[in-house]
Order: sequence, then C-alpha cells, then structure tokens
Amino acid sequence: MQIAIDGPAGAGKSTVARQVALRLGYLYIDTGAMYRALTYQVILDAVDPNNEEAVYSVLQQLDLRLVPVKQANNVSCCVFIGDNEVTEQIRKPIVSQLVSAVSSHYKVRKEMVKLQQELAKSQDVVMDGRDITTTVLPDAELKIYLNASVEERAKRRLLELKSKGHPVELDDLITQINQRDRLDSTRKVSPLRKAEDAVEIDTTMLTIDQVVERILALAVRRENRV
Ligand code: DC
Repeated sequence: MQIAIDGPAGAGKSTVARQVALRLGYLYIDTGAMYRALTYQVILDAVDPNNEEAVYSVLQQLDLRLVPVKQANNVSCCVFIGDNEVTEQIRKPIVSQLVSAVSSHYKVRKEMVKLQQELAKSQDVVMDGRDITTTVLPDAELKIYLNASVEERAKRRLLELKSKGHPVELDDLITQINQRDRLDSTRKVSPLRKAEDAVEIDTTMLTIDQVVERILALAVRRENRV
C-alpha cells in the first residue's frame, strides 16, 4: 500500500508519517528532505536559488541518499550527500528560507518526482511532501491532507527549533510560514493543494496520537477494500 501525505509546513506531516510507518512496518520517505538537501548544496556552492539551470546542474551532480533508520519507537530518514551526513544541517533556518525557491523549478521537480517514484516502487511506503497525493503517487491507496492554523504550526516549529538550540521568535516564524505557504501553493509547477480524493485532517486541536490513529483506521479500511 502507498500512503501519501501532503500539507503545509508545520502541519505535523513528518511526525505523523513516521509513526504511521512504524506502526505498519512501512518505509518512510521524507521528500521535503530531498529538496532541503539540494538547497543545502546550492548554498554551499554559492548558486543563485532562483536560477533554474544552475540549480538543476547542482542536482545533476548531487549524490543524494536517504537511509531509513528503524528504532524501537521511531523510524526516520537519515540524509547523506556523498559520504557526509547532512540530516541536521538541512533543518537550519537558512535552508528553510531558500528551499521554496529551489523547489519551484520545473526541471528540478521533474527529476525529484522521478527519484521519489522509483523509491516508492514495489514496497509499502508512507511518503510525505507537498505534491505526493497530486503528482508523485496519484494512485496511492490512501491520500491525506494535513492542515493546522498558521499560529499552531509556528508554535510547533518554535518548540522544535528551540530544542535544537536555534534562537527564533514566534512572530518571525509566522511571517516565514505564511511566506512559504504562499510560495508553495502559488508556484506554477505542482503547487501545494488538496487532492480531490484526499482526506483532510485539521491537526490544530489534535494530538499526534489522535492523528496517527485516524490515519491507521483509514488505512485498515482501505486495505480491507482492496
Ligand atoms: O516538508 P519540509 O518543510 O521539509 O519541505 C521543505 C520544502 O520543500 C517546502 O517548503 C516545499 C518543498 N517541497 C516540495 O515542494 N515538494 C515536496 N514533495 C516536498 C517538499
């Protein structure tokens, strides 16, 4: 089964997707991490994130690997560029600020979608991102659109960044999230939008466990239908 999860920044996609993958024994694929890793390399190479050809050329040289990690109570994706692990570096605020520009280019997305479809081939996966339900896995058995209020999403990001020692202000995060939402949902190539057949879950007032249980219940129903 393929479970595809889309939604805006900070809606809880990756936390929820990892728990769902753990409970079902599926592979978890974090597609945002792929765009972040490319952005990280774009920054290192001092390439203009708005220059499609230059960014595409970085992607062509990029030896990107997602390595699944399974622990007793969590699954995650470690990200490598060549032999260097960049799992933590790609979460830095500078990467978050530039990733929308990098991921807006047609040639970049075409290549990334191909890689993602290859990863999801012939195995049970939970994949999260912005265009998974609409473009990458349009035939996924279960499609989820996770959403939450901007304030709640900014609060969650604040806790996450502070726990990692990044000094940030809530108001700045609200501004950045609003800007990223606008860029991600208005870009020309596969913008973030809810697929018609996706189940929308507003996570503002829900705990992670509640969201996970809802998705698992939907997965069981879909499985029984197959
Ligand atoms: O989920 P995230 O915040 O790690 O994603 C980082 C950025 O990557 C997000 O702002 C938009 C882009 N992205 C995308 O365009 N398509 C995806 N499938 C996943 C992420």
